[in-house]
Amino acid sequence: MGDLARLPLLEKAPTTHAGLLAWVEEVAELTQPDRIHWVDGSEEENTRLTDELVAAGTLTRLNEKLFPKSFAAFSDPADVARVEEQTFICSENERDAGFTNNWMAPAEMKAKLRGLFSGSMRGRTMYVIPFVMGHLDAEDPKFGVEITDSAYVVASMRIMATIGTEVLDKITATNAFFVPALHSLGAPLAPGQADVVWPCNPDKWIVHFPEERSIWSFGSGYGGNALLGKKCYALRIASVMARDEGWLAEHMLILKLTSPEQKKYYISAAFPSACGKTNLALLDPTIEGWKVETLGDDITWMRIGKEGELRATNPEAGLFGVAPGTGWGTNPNAMRAIAKGHSIFTNVALTDDGGVWWEGMTEEVPAHLTDWQGNSWTPDSDKPAAHPNSRFCTPIDQIDMLAEEYFSPDGVELSAILFGGRRKTTVPLVTQSRTWSNGVFMGSTLSSETTAAAAGQVGVLRRDPMAMLPFIGYDAGDYLNHWVNLSAKANQERLPKIFLVNWFRRTADGGFAWPGFGDNARVLKWAIERIEGKADAVETPIGYVPAAGSLDLTGLDLTHSHVEDAVRVDPEEWAAELASIEEWYGKFGDSLPAALRSELEGLKERLAAQ
Ligand code: GDP
Ligand code: PGA
Ligand code: MN
Repeated sequence: MGDLARLPLLEKAPTTHAGLLAWVEEVAELTQPDRIHWVDGSEEENTRLTDELVAAGTLTRLNEKLFPKSFAAFSDPADVARVEEQTFICSENERDAGFTNNWMAPAEMKAKLRGLFSGSMRGRTMYVIPFVMGHLDAEDPKFGVEITDSAYVVASMRIMATIGTEVLDKITATNAFFVPALHSLGAPLAPGQADVVWPCNPDKWIVHFPEERSIWSFGSGYGGNALLGKKCYALRIASVMARDEGWLAEHMLILKLTSPEQKKYYISAAFPSACGKTNLALLDPTIEGWKVETLGDDITWMRIGKEGELRATNPEAGLFGVAPGTGWGTNPNAMRAIAKGHSIFTNVALTDDGGVWWEGMTEEVPAHLTDWQGNSWTPDSDKPAAHPNSRFCTPIDQIDMLAEEYFSPDGVELSAILFGGRRKTTVPLVTQSRTWSNGVFMGSTLSSETTAAAAGQVGVLRRDPMAMLPFIGYDAGDYLNHWVNLSAKANQERLPKIFLVNWFRRTADGGFAWPGFGDNARVLKWAIERIEGKADAVETPIGYVPAAGSLDLTGLDLTHSHVEDAVRVDPEEWAAELASIEEWYGKFGDSLPAALRSELEGLKERLAAQ
């Protein structure tokens, strides 16, 4: 027991779950915190923790009238995004991590991590956060427990997941398996040492052990690295669970679309980080009679239902959205949810009246701000006021347009799946796939220019299969195979139709060819009308694109959109694309599914026959 005598709280642990108690003891012994706190998830606890964070300077309380019960946090400038270079999948065999992941032998990595975590919580409180991803009353609830030395993480996890006593009680009562998710800022305090506003460590490690389903995250306080229920569990670890259990964990939004005839459709869409998931999920349609409601904006768990239909749920309880570009003009639904308060903003700018601002929030730029690094800012400043990856963290039930089906553990039956990326050229506004496996091919060759959501250069084109490149917890070829095989288990008639979309194509003058945002409803309408056999399409080598007149352009401001440019399939661009796809597929070696190799051959033949 050693130093644990200093930790009387452990004796009063609110659980009898032997595995959990043993793990908490082990971690406490390793990390040497001053205190242990079992998070109950209550309002009182949240008030106390956020008060402490305000006193410590980590949180700034916002003007209660503008943003009730909301706070702003400002990170270390070197801790603003996910760190893909430092993210590892440590499977027993290197082959199982595949070429898309960083890998190290588990024993070697554990030894390294034990060294880093040794004493890493000295001078701090160790918080134990019981959580569930998805519904607590799901048939097979997916539990986790995050141990962290960051109160900011506790307050953020409270928004993003269901946490606290009711979860712990169910873990205890059912002696459930939980994913142990260990997080430390890696910034221990010596006695008397003053804390900094955003403790973190220059050495960052985001590590997953897929076989034992555990997570160790060291050195970062940023959302995607530190809120371990999100990308680490609900995508990387869950993708491995899903492979083993026959379902899918995907980087997708889910929306409900109601037609003027009151017919309901559910659509999911996979776009890489900062490529439009949150915006599409909260879309405000510009076409008469069509209604969008939200089920999820980032993560989707899908499984085959009893009748062979593909059902989808959102395992999260909050939005962790990119702030810049989210505005009253482009995304009023998100703005209304945010304005209800109960939110934590990270790396946005502060207005002089105690509110927040970021590029794109309002058309009018405030005359004076405090930028995300604490400097005085005016519109003449040469740097953006908010960091490009600044975020809002807001409870999902503050969305007025939240679909009631969000609350159903069974989820919804999908009619369509969209794959999309950020491409200046080549990829048309929308393309319908020929078949399921042709759609999987589209997903597997998805490509996008990199964004500020991950550390590294922005604007570099990379392949991002199903928008899951940084999130597949196992071999990428095996993952694609899992997608291909899913159709065999489904009712073929009820399989969703797959579409490739691109809101980001540019015209010769550099502007966006398509207005995007609310006008993306026109593309959703076309997709649904394709499914219903009502919209015309032109068959091209890459799939079906809208025939002239088939996209509803009623009321569209055509001076700002270049629809023909947006939907064009250019043979020269596609010759270059084909070469790039072949190079990408070459990286998979033997693990590329045969069905996808023949899809590539088919595309090659069709392009040659043009
Ligand atoms: P997510 O990270 O995938 O959820 O992406 P977001 O929905 O937060 O959007 C990321 C960025 O892309 C924001 O700056 C948005 O303003 C911008 N964006 C989203 N949808 C569109 C669109 O349809 N057209 C254009 N041009 N930009 C968009
Ligand atoms: P997102 O990712 O941009 O897909 O919302 C969140 C993150 O970077 O962790
Ligand atoms: Mn998002």
